[in-house]
Amino acid sequence: MKPVEGKILFVPELESSQDELASWVREGNRSIVGVRADFQSKGRGRLGRGWLTPPGEALALSLALYPYADWEQPQLLGMAVALAVAEALDLSLRWPNDLVLCLDEGARKVGGILSEMIPAGKSRIPVIGIGVNLAVAEFPSELKATATSLLLAGRKPPTPEEAQERILDAIREVPEPTAWSALAGRWMARDVTPGKPYLLDGRPGEAVGINDEGHLIVRTEEGLTIVPSAEAWYGGSTP
Ligand code: BTN
Repeated sequence: MKPVEGKILFVPELESSQDELASWVREGNRSIVGVRADFQSKGRGRLGRGWLTPPGEALALSLALYPYADWEQPQLLGMAVALAVAEALDLSLRWPNDLVLCLDEGARKVGGILSEMIPAGKSRIPVIGIGVNLAVAEFPSELKATATSLLLAGRKPPTPEEAQERILDAIREVPEPTAWSALAGRWMARDVTPGKPYLLDGRPGEAVGINDEGHLIVRTEEGLTIVPSAEAWYGGSTP
């Protein structure tokens, strides 16, 4: 992918790096291409959920991908950045852009990507939020069964600064997300999606794979269904 070139602001405490960067983008200030926060008081996850960023223990980084303004397949941008993060930190991937670690007790979520297209003048700019639990020492009880951190999984976590540098380097090395086929080979080497239980409009199903457009293929009692990423809702309670 094209490199993220420009200034990345570091702010010790923010409500959300995503919202901070979106306001820079809306104002049309293209010199700021990223925002990283040490602590987020109102971090946002996918599908309207919250996202925890304990001070000093996690990466909370948002990037404005200006070279990809009005990109026709925005879901592939989030997947490409997820792939870059997975390659930078040696993680597994779960569709559409969960970063996971496979532990004895099963796959546990260690990070995620929030992809948004922010209107700026006549264009829509992709703002990609990256959250990774680096040295998070404890999770609230409702997340304990599904989330982990590099530290809790027995890895030596990089600092947030190191993680940012590695991810920016890895983004340059990821193929251009022109089609799912461009990403598929490297993604599938890290994919743990097949076999995941899945709720489709409340009906149980099973994720069986990813199609040519990067959408999920789910098998329910009624047969195979294609699910675009915006509708992903694994298991019903996965963070
Ligand atoms: C997910 O639900 O899996 C996506 C989580 C994305 C969290 C990141 S942390 C940096 C950026 N700022 C936010 O408020 N959210 C994203």
